[in-house]
Amino acid sequence: MMKKPLNLICPLCRSSLTQSGKGLECTPCAQIYPIINGIPSLIKTKSDFYSNYYKTPLGALWAKGHVGFKNPLLNILLGARTAISIVGKRQRFFKKIIRKKQDAWILDLGCGGGHDLFTRYGNVAGVDLELAPLKSAKNIYQVAVHADISCLPFEDETFDYVVSSDVIGHIPIDQKKKLLSEIRRVLKKGGITAHAIETHSCNFLYRFAQDHPDLFKKSFIEDIGGHFGLEMPQAVLNRFKEHGFNLVKKEKIWGPVWSTEEYVYRFDNGYTQKSKLIKVLVITCKLLNKNILVHAIANVFLGILNYFVESLTPFDHAQGILLAYRKSNT
Ligand SMILES: C[S@@+](CC[C@H](N)C(=O)[O-])C[C@H]1O[C@@H](n2cnc3c(N)ncnc32)[C@H](O)[C@@H]1O
Ligand SMILES: [Zn+2]
Repeated sequence: MMKKPLNLICPLCRSSLTQSGKGLECTPCAQIYPIINGIPSLIKTKSDFYSNYYKTPLGALWAKGHVGFKNPLLNILLGARTAISIVGKRQRFFKKIIRKKQDAWILDLGCGGGHDLFTRYGNVAGVDLELAPLKSAKNIYQVAVHADISCLPFEDETFDYVVSSDVIGHIPIDQKKKLLSEIRRVLKKGGITAHAIETHSCNFLYRFAQDHPDLFKKSFIEDIGGHFGLEMPQAVLNRFKEHGFNLVKKEKIWGPVWSTEEYVYRFDNGYTQKSKLIKVLVITCKLLNKNILVHAIANVFLGILNYFVESLTPFDHAQGILLAYRKSNT
């Protein structure tokens, strides 16, 4: 049987696009969407926030995407880290949820530079608001498209899986309904949608952070990459339920136990002036981070501690969640 190609449609009117020398044309909208370095660009409004963000050191790191090392030994170490660390938890979750299927199409929303994990399970299309990271995604994925995920340029029921990692918390609250409707529209009946989603939280560390609104805005919303649409974990679950998705699996991530780098990253600023305990925590983590072996041991310990804390605390104490839903067959 011939593999179904991935047809792009106009994000404004959902008509088919025809390719010409100028790009992809939508006749009803009288629009021509350019193809830039092989990447169809179906976006009209530029996001200054992400354009600027991709110029920062953290943005440059995101833009590279998540790919293994060429050196097999380093790859074994990376695999071990993924298997046991707090940061590897989302990969472990996606591995549990996604199954390899012949000719499957997977859509990675807000893909950044892409993730080679998804390519193990089928053909992958990555969509992002920014062209800079899509250059890397194009090398990993079958298709990379410059588009807004709240207005997807794909036909109805195209994908077997729709996934995202650290993206839904970035989508402003007023665009979330549109995004979930779009996920539902492009997902096949019986298809799975799985996400790692940053959230608000009511754990003690997060409540302390929120008690200082200016620092919180800078360190927990802007500098972290634009968490403009954070909601409480339970509110996120309610949203998916309202859109008629059936829960397959939910897990917590990022309670109050973080990696040593994360404590430094979030709190090595004005927060150290607000609490002696936080100051001690930041100084300790900076010391631990100096030596590669000490750093590894400390983070294994934090990983074990996190396991217990997560299993003992309520769902809304998470600072992020891993969710998988199925679209019903009817
Ligand atoms: C934290 S990064 C995550 C990137 C990637 N998923 C990863 O795991 O490395 C968030 C990404 O979402 C993208 N993004 C934010 N809002 C978007 C939107 N409305 N449409 C498409 N992409 C968006 C940003 O450009 C950025 O690449
Ligand atoms: Zn159109």
